[in-house]
Amino acid sequence: MSENKKAEKITGVKGMNDLLPTDSPLWELFENTAQSVLQSYGFQKIVTPIIEDTALFKRAIGAVTDIVEKEMYSFTDAMNGDQLTLRPEGTAGVVRAVIEHNLVYEGPKRLWYKGPMFRHERPQRGRYRQFFQIGAEAVGFAGPDIDAELIMLCRRLWDDLGLEGIRLELNSIGDAAERQRHRADLITYFEANAELLDAEATRRLHQNPLRILDTKNPAMQDLVNKAPKLLDYLEAESIAHFEGVKRILDHNNIPYTVNPRLVRGLDYYNRTVFEWVTDALGAQGTVCAGGRYDPLIASFGGKPTPAVGFAMGIERLVELMKMAGEPALPAQCDVYMVHQGEAAQMQAFVLAERIRDAGLDVVLHCAAASGAGSFKSQMKKADGSGAAFAVIIGDDEIANHVAIVKSMRGAEDDSQQSTVPFDEVVDYVVDQIVGDHDHDHGHDHVHYHH
Ligand code: HAM
Repeated sequence: MSENKKAEKITGVKGMNDLLPTDSPLWELFENTAQSVLQSYGFQKIVTPIIEDTALFKRAIGAVTDIVEKEMYSFTDAMNGDQLTLRPEGTAGVVRAVIEHNLVYEGPKRLWYKGPMFRHERPQRGRYRQFFQIGAEAVGFAGPDIDAELIMLCRRLWDDLGLEGIRLELNSIGDAAERQRHRADLITYFEANAELLDAEATRRLHQNPLRILDTKNPAMQDLVNKAPKLLDYLEAESIAHFEGVKRILDHNNIPYTVNPRLVRGLDYYNRTVFEWVTDALGAQGTVCAGGRYDPLIASFGGKPTPAVGFAMGIERLVELMKMAGEPALPAQCDVYMVHQGEAAQMQAFVLAERIRDAGLDVVLHCAAASGAGSFKSQMKKADGSGAAFAVIIGDDEIANHVAIVKSMRGAEDDSQQSTVPFDEVVDYVVDQIVGDHDHDHGHDHVHYHH
């Protein structure tokens, strides 16, 4: 009969990942480090919805881009027929919010955000359909100084994360008029070599020829390398801006390579564009990318407001952190409560709450499917939690109104344990742990065990 029929398994959506507890401390370490770097440059957090009007992304990112043409999760709201899209990136939503709330009327703003983005790409290592970005948008700033600051902020983050081998590629794609002149020459050049274009390039030739420069097709590399370079079409103001960015980077010893073929896959950019790239991740080696998008806000009906930003892929950076070694991660808790017997359990609950009142993190052993667990198995859990102390209560301790406080750090044989009256347990562990914590202060850098 059907009793033995296996229940059908439901699995996650392809290209979308679960973040499991084994990995979440590393993510948290990444996010906290990034957040503290962003704050150290005066960036303020903004949160916008994951769903926006489809038209927002079409107009901001550009109709003839991979994202809009084939990667958006768009749907019709069944309740009212609205055309909506799961955000493929964060800039469009931030720009919408800046205009809607007139955020720059008091002056420029440094904003940052984090969260999931959605693109229907072919999943592979480092490329997912739901992925997480941390991004920054500096809105209302016109000069090259902020471009350089954003780049230096990234550099500081790589250093704080202890990540090596992330290099900076930089380019300027000029303004609309400069791109227009370049575009005309580019089309002429590609038309003269039409037989060398692949299908995608042929399709893009009259729509978005700049994107042809981005081709990964090996057969077209030579053609693309000899194509007219946008950098040669820049006029005085764009050149001065680009030189300004480079001067600040040079002065601060930030190495970079000017890559004239760096054009980015979204249409809103002008002038400065940049990517942070590593060779350690295979094909998906760009860990962070961004640039200036001065005309975007005005094109949405806002008052003309220059802006520049970047976004980094959290999965890719966490992967790099894993490759760098085993980072020193925070323990699950400060104190693990071990107990046996009902009276001991009651006492453990009371003590655990009082230790939490004092600001420490406590895991109280709770019954598993297999039961409450022996002292021995509970001590194993205490060990695995990374707690600095186990507080142990059994029948003898209940009889004497004391708990055993056992230090879980140090070697197995010389681990210290003390018998502490119930009333003194909180002060005892707080003294020990807070005294210890002070040693950790004064550094934000991530350390790895190799
Ligand atoms: P983007 O180049 O499309 O730019 O994405 C930025 C970063 O997000 C990439 O460099 C990569 O690290 C990560 N990323 C992109 N797609 C995926 C994916 N499918 N799976 C995993 N990671 C991915 C933007 O999104 C712009 N909004 C950046 C920006 C902000 N420009 C100005 N302000």
